[in-house]
Amino acid sequence: MSDAVKVILDCDTGDDDAVAIMTAVLSEKIDLLGVCTVQGNKGIEYTTENTLRVIEALNADVPVFQGCPGPIASRLLYSRHGSFSGMTGVKEDVKNEKGEVISYHTDYLPLPKATIKKQEKHAVFWLVETLLASEGDICVVPTGPMTNLAMALRLEPAIAKKIKEVVFMGGGVNVFNSTGASEFNIWNDPEAAEIVLQAGIPITMVPLDATHQANFDLEDCRRLREIGTVAANAVADIMDTRIEAYDLYQPQATLHTAPLHDALALSYLIDREVLQDLHFWRVDVDISGGFADGATLCDTRAFTDLPRNCTVALGANNERFHSIIFGLLERQKRELEAA
Ligand code: BDR
Ligand code: CA
Repeated sequence: MSDAVKVILDCDTGDDDAVAIMTAVLSEKIDLLGVCTVQGNKGIEYTTENTLRVIEALNADVPVFQGCPGPIASRLLYSRHGSFSGMTGVKEDVKNEKGEVISYHTDYLPLPKATIKKQEKHAVFWLVETLLASEGDICVVPTGPMTNLAMALRLEPAIAKKIKEVVFMGGGVNVFNSTGASEFNIWNDPEAAEIVLQAGIPITMVPLDATHQANFDLEDCRRLREIGTVAANAVADIMDTRIEAYDLYQPQATLHTAPLHDALALSYLIDREVLQDLHFWRVDVDISGGFADGATLCDTRAFTDLPRNCTVALGANNERFHSIIFGLLERQKRELEAA
């Protein structure tokens, strides 16, 4: 019997989501049961199409389930996302010399248009059915707003006991992007994140504090192009775009580098050492609609009011992360050449 970890990815694909999907498909340590899609980096039609593109480019036999087109409640209050002018909530208005807006995520990934189709079933119903029927051995990895999983938990709370582990990319302890207190995935649907955090599931949060320690640079892009497969070239294109956007909008400690947040979160199920500086804390999300709306509040006190519920990673091992990503892409190249 394979000892690969059963995984459901829940993505707003999204370029770093795309690399998370590739990593899951290519790793023999992951048994990818399906990919759910959610709005986030782009609208749901884009995130679903982009997910299908990745699956098809890898020739993978993995079903894609389209999920929620909007957050549960956060857009009901107009004032709440008052400065919200685009999908990302992150400032993106600088143009390059060609007059194109420099953006973290292009509408469509640099991969051929998908010819494979999404499944008929809605992601939320599929999550409920699959988790209920499981033996409690499935890990769920949300790399976008957690709307689908929260809706599934509301629909059928019994799934909480069936989920082995949730590892999500999101939140920030000292590092933020959408506002001065919040990270995009959580800020986009704060209620969803709080529902998931309160569900009693073993859960690990991979915040910006960790993901910004696992950056890729221009030398990595060169190495990726040297591998030269469809997947490696796509990651190189993605990284070029990301580095340009990060240099402008969120310059990292080392210039000309950018994180691949979502792929780092998924990699934790391949190599537990990829995340560092782990703390078991009480974590809740501010859903007040105020200045800290969408913030992940970590209670680091010895005696917390509410029970601890979440492991939080503050660091990452960049070397290990690189060897996962390059190891998988290089192995795929060898396999393609041998076929
Ligand atoms: C997160 O937001 C999205 O833009 C990325 O895909 C990642 O999941 C980082 O804040
Ligand atoms: Ca994402």
